[in-house]
Amino acid sequence: MIIVIHENNEWISPFETAFQKLNIDYLIWYVPDMFLDLSEVPPDAVYWNRMSASSHSRGHRYEPELVAGILAWLDRHDRTVVNGPNALDLEISKMRQYQELEKFSIRTPKTFCAIKTEHLLDGASRIGFPLITKHNRAGKGLGVKKFDKQAALQNYLDGDEFEESPDGITLLQEYIDAPSKSIIRMEFVNCKFLYAVEVDTSQGFELCPADACELESNCPTEEFNKFEIIDGFTIPNIADYERFLKQSDVGIAGIEIIFDADGNYWTYDVNTNTNYNPKAEAQAGQSAPEEIGKFLSSLL
Ligand SMILES: Nc1ncnc2c1ncn2[C@@H]1O[C@H](COP(=O)(O)OP(=O)(O)O)[C@@H](O)[C@H]1O
Ligand SMILES: [Mg+2]
Repeated sequence: MIIVIHENNEWISPFETAFQKLNIDYLIWYVPDMFLDLSEVPPDAVYWNRMSASSHSRGHRYEPELVAGILAWLDRHDRTVVNGPNALDLEISKMRQYQELEKFSIRTPKTFCAIKTEHLLDGASRIGFPLITKHNRAGKGLGVKKFDKQAALQNYLDGDEFEESPDGITLLQEYIDAPSKSIIRMEFVNCKFLYAVEVDTSQGFELCPADACELESNCPTEEFNKFEIIDGFTIPNIADYERFLKQSDVGIAGIEIIFDADGNYWTYDVNTNTNYNPKAEAQAGQSAPEEIGKFLSSLL
């Protein structure tokens, strides 16, 4: 049996559909409704952790902490877990993600991290303008805003609109200007590159590929394809990303990169909880949920 640990019902149906199609025996553990008697023994199963860093935006502020405990319990009982404790650790902290990526010579944008406004205002001069703010723990583009000048940044940090990251840590990051007005999200299953999807960023920074999220962003025209799978995409150091995932115990992930005007690419987000765009997948004849189903079954 496969057990999926997650906290967002809107994201789960594509996986259930794939598991049913593949005749996979599965159970869904919805974290907000979970409790745990530590003397119990976990079911004999292969576990897939899909805890998301943006859970607080759905009223699930403490669920990552509960999952950390559940994963420790599974570990104690030697259960096979895809995206175990280390994946959760990376999921909830961009600071920690960037350190791990750099260990594998994967380039991340210049980033400054602090809690206090005064330190962020000082740090801005190290990064230079334009820069973007983001949350250390987030996802869905929460807290991502672009600033061209110190005064505008100061107004934001001092004003009512400022949203704090759930862990209190704000990041300032060098803004990478992409001539393509898009980013690339590379999907990995079983630590292996599966496909890359190009995401149009001309409408803003909230780029979750799940159907439910895409609808929220109000596509202006019906023909507008925000997500498109790129045929034959590759980059020279794709194997470094695969090594990074393997060593970090992240079996399934979506990693985001952005190409600048010189053709250099920068890696700025590792989603250990990743969603797929059904329309883009249908057009390209791909199904990451089915690949995941096959991968998880292979571990049984
Ligand atoms: N350094 C950057 N330069 C330019 N755009 C960025 C940069 N970092 C993030 N963005 C834009 O903001 C979006 C959300 O940022 P990201 O770091 O992925 O946060 P989240 O974890 O909330 O998804 C990205 O997909 C991208 O479009
Ligand atoms: Mg992202």
